[in-house]
Amino acid sequence: MDRRRAVQLLVLLAGASLLTSALAADSYVIGDQGQDCATTCGRRGQFCNPDVNTNNSDSIFKPSYCSDPSDENYGRCVGYVNPPVNGSCQARYWSVRRLCRCTGDATTLPFFGTGYSSGSLTVNETNHFEHVVADGHFGVMTHFWVTGTAELMDNTIIRYYIDNETKPSIEFRPSMAVGVGFNDSKAPWGTKWIGMGAGNGQGKNFNVNFKIPFQKSIRVTAQSSLNDSNGFYMIVRGVLDQEITFGGVTIPKTARLQLQRQENLVLQPMDFLNVVNVPSGAGLMLMSTLQVQSGNLNFLEGCYHAYTPVDMPWPGIVLSTGTEDYFDSAWYFNAGEFRLPVAGFTHLNVKNSSIEWSAYRFHEMDPLPFNNGFRLQWRNGDMNDPHSGLKCYTLANGNIVGSPTPSIVTSYGWVYTW
Ligand SMILES: *[C@@H]1O[C@H](CO)[C@@H](O)[C@H](O)[C@H]1NC(C)=O
Ligand SMILES: *[C@@H]1O[C@H](CO)[C@@H](O)[C@H](O)[C@H]1NC(C)=O
Ligand SMILES: *[C@@H]1O[C@H](CO)[C@@H](O)[C@H](O)[C@H]1NC(C)=O
Ligand SMILES: *[C@@H]1O[C@H](CO)[C@@H](O)[C@H](O)[C@H]1NC(C)=O
Ligand SMILES: *[C@@H]1O[C@H](CO)[C@@H](O)[C@H](O)[C@H]1NC(C)=O
Ligand SMILES: *[C@@H]1O[C@H](CO)[C@@H](O)[C@H](O)[C@H]1NC(C)=O
Ligand SMILES: *[C@@H]1O[C@H](CO)[C@@H](O)[C@H](O)[C@H]1NC(C)=O
Repeated sequence: MDRRRAVQLLVLLAGASLLTSALAADSYVIGDQGQDCATTCGRRGQFCNPDVNTNNSDSIFKPSYCSDPSDENYGRCVGYVNPPVNGSCQARYWSVRRLCRCTGDATTLPFFGTGYSSGSLTVNETNHFEHVVADGHFGVMTHFWVTGTAELMDNTIIRYYIDNETKPSIEFRPSMAVGVGFNDSKAPWGTKWIGMGAGNGQGKNFNVNFKIPFQKSIRVTAQSSLNDSNGFYMIVRGVLDQEITFGGVTIPKTARLQLQRQENLVLQPMDFLNVVNVPSGAGLMLMSTLQVQSGNLNFLEGCYHAYTPVDMPWPGIVLSTGTEDYFDSAWYFNAGEFRLPVAGFTHLNVKNSSIEWSAYRFHEMDPLPFNNGFRLQWRNGDMNDPHSGLKCYTLANGNIVGSPTPSIVTSYGWVYTW
């Protein structure tokens, strides 16, 4: 549906007060400005019923209004005559508050979700899925799938707002969410958690199956840095009351999955990066992704360290003896790229004066649970102890291995906390 039709679906009338109606089996509700009916009804714990009956009268719309004075239709009541039969619940227009028909009780559905097909994204963040669960229950988002042109995918940001957060616990670019840096388009590949089914050509697709618990409500939004990008498709799904385990560890149902991000940080040689930093409390590391642009490959000498309790002294627990070692490889990845269940080396582009590289690592087979905070730390290059020659244990004044250069680093660290 194009915008003009979307507008016509809607009814605009200035100056009246909002329709208020208690949650009922079947009711007409005014959504927020720019909101579609699927999410308007989802927020109320109901389904959208596309079967809107106006009887060609504006009477049921009287309490609605066009909420943005800059819209050309401001103050006018539009579209109540012969509205499209069963028009799309997903249609929306930025200036308009839609009148929606909301039906039934969705709060105890054993599973739930939505598919958004051949829609568009703009520079304005828009809600694409909202769901609430009944008191005494909890929800777990289990599936995320997205596709569009390569250009649209590279410019899309997805956010999960858990339990009415104002700042989302989870905000990602699809590519980095599947452990792939520099918009690498190689496909198909996949593990049970992440993958790319389509790529290589005009369009890309990303799949993420991380389990994202929520207590009461979930809201999933999408946004592009391009205006009016058409051909956006997204599927999200979740289940009710499903216990989560990861790496044999049971995740309390009240846990939060957080995505901690660093974007385009410039690190000097021997600088440290906290991929994950949880100041206190219990939790479990899920996975991490690192994207590095550097002058040469010597950044790969950098060791990974874990600290728990969070104030554990240097060197903490040495998780890897070099960067490629953390990603289950060695010898600067001399066997080439791979995308495997535990780890993946997902991108390498050697240019004249710089190298682009990315990799991901899960902690399912070697769980990293914690009780008193946690820090996962990487170093841009590393040094040997001048006396023993050993690497990873020397904070300063050691012998730097190779000639690491400044690096531009982006990292994603997914961690459950409770
Ligand atoms: C339209 O008319 C039908 C038949 O009279 C009625 O059942 C229905 O409730 C009306 N719809 C609205 C939205 O008033
Ligand atoms: C519109 O949807 C309703 C179900 O909500 C269905 O009963 C009806 O047949 C549909 N009308 C058309 C013309 O498809
Ligand atoms: C985004 O929203 C603003 C108002 O908040 C509006 O002026 C603008 O036209 C919208 N842009 C698009 C591309 O929908
Ligand atoms: C969610 O937060 C908004 C303000 O950001 C508030 O108006 C609304 O009542 C909250 N909803 C719930 C269910 O807590
Ligand atoms: C991926 O593509 C987007 C859009 O072109 C761009 O903004 C972003 O910088 C790219 N990411 C990397 C790491 O090159
Ligand atoms: C998108 O459109 C808005 C107006 O709605 C404009 O201010 C902004 O510069 C545009 N951005 C891009 C990337 O085209
Ligand atoms: C890379 O270096 C070669 C040889 O010095 C040069 O011919 C080529 O133009 C350079 N390419 C780029 C993209 O700078």
